[in-house]
Amino acid sequence: MKRSIDDHAERFSAVAEEYDEQQDSDEYAACASMVIDAADPGPEETVLDLGTGTGAIALALAGDAGTVIGRDISEGMLAEARRKAEAAGHENVSFGEGRFREPNVDTEVDVVVSNFAMHHLADDEKRAAIEAIAALAPRRFVLGDVMLSAPIPEGEEQYAPEVDDPAAVGVLVEALTDAGFTVSDVTLVSDQYGVLVADR
Ligand SMILES: C[S@@+](CC[C@H](N)C(=O)[O-])C[C@H]1O[C@@H](n2cnc3c(N)ncnc32)[C@H](O)[C@@H]1O
Repeated sequence: MKRSIDDHAERFSAVAEEYDEQQDSDEYAACASMVIDAADPGPEETVLDLGTGTGAIALALAGDAGTVIGRDISEGMLAEARRKAEAAGHENVSFGEGRFREPNVDTEVDVVVSNFAMHHLADDEKRAAIEAIAALAPRRFVLGDVMLSAPIPEGEEQYAPEVDDPAAVGVLVEALTDAGFTVSDVTLVSDQYGVLVADR
């Protein structure tokens, strides 16, 4: 059975303090760096980072953007993000509770980013999340995530969809297009990871 939002939040809060040091895969580094580059916010622009976790992407964009808003469901991950923002002296970044389908944002947003988070949602939930992001009317949405461009070969570890439920790249592109975005770039880091850039 699909994990509830509260289950996901608890699971991440339990590992929040060790989360950063565990992100040592080449795929994570490649996706994070591409998401940061593609976001490319202007100095007056507002960036929303959904599923911000400990703020890796949000904090990397703080020097370039006017304002950065991080949203997540895990209070433990948000606490880490706030601690790092304070240590770095970033006063234009704020972190708070918000979820993909209810981002809890009441300001105009120019760029939405999300890295390694949307794959926790089922495909119909991802579609609803993409519609909620489109409703914020950003000029760009950059999604780095686990996404499948080929079936996982038999014998290799499969995902447990109640926790990790990556979509096929085509499913994401179709949902973005249906929500009014034009997918301007698809970069596949491997058969299981990629970055999509969607513009309006
Ligand atoms: C693997 S971490 C990625 C964190 C960060 N974006 C990064 O690149 O390191 C996934 C994050 O997504 C959050 N998350 C899971 N489901 C969510 C939802 N429905 N809405 C918002 N955040 C969610 C988790 O709490 C967790 O902090």
